[in-house]
Amino acid sequence: MTIVQIGESTKDEAIPPLPYHPHWLRMEPWVIDDETVIRAHTPEDLSVIKAWTPAESQPFLHIHPTIVAEVRGTVVGYGQYLVSATVFFHLALRIADEWQRFGLGRRLMDYRIALAREIHCAHHYAIVLKSKPAMMALCEKVGMSAYYEDAQTITYQGRTA
Ligand SMILES: CC(C)(COP(=O)(O)OP(=O)(O)OC[C@H]1O[C@@H](n2cnc3c(N)ncnc32)[C@H](O)[C@@H]1OP(=O)(O)O)[C@@H](O)C(=O)NCCC(=O)NCCS
Repeated sequence: MTIVQIGESTKDEAIPPLPYHPHWLRMEPWVIDDETVIRAHTPEDLSVIKAWTPAESQPFLHIHPTIVAEVRGTVVGYGQYLVSATVFFHLALRIADEWQRFGLGRRLMDYRIALAREIHCAHHYAIVLKSKPAMMALCEKVGMSAYYEDAQTITYQGRTA
């Protein structure tokens, strides 16, 4: 077996643009009102998102599919996901500080759940740090319930049907 050194590949320029995933094409954008839309991200969105994403989370922006919230032409929030067989995992969810508490996090969660339903995932999960009470409350708001708990995290589970 040949082991390939990939250490340098974490540099932005070495990572090819994330291709459009077939899952994204299953969902139309959600037009919330004249100013707000929830949609799949484009490669151009990533540099905007990076401006308000902590450095430690930035590498993952290139790996996982991302749904964005756009207000007046500017991306102000995003939610990533991962699909494994028939299970849908919510990954990062982040709204720019000045746009929090306007219902955008909820819209992104709802969109991801609708996508999970569309691609026939019966259950969806989110692993949430207990240091993130807003996210814990949001999971409960969308009908998820605690499925597993350890000292640092709660895993929430919901049904899509
Ligand atoms: C968690 C986060 C995405 C919520 O986004 P948001 O757009 O502000 O949330 P919404 O306005 O859609 O709120 C929906 C529900 O979430 C919960 N919620 C949101 N912010 C909350 C807060 N600061 N405290 C408690 N509950 C909160 C509430 O249940 C709320 O419903 P309500 O308004 O009827 O009370 C946002 O706070 C954020 O980006 N935080 C920083 C990153 C982070 O911690 N991400 C989660 C882990 S990846």
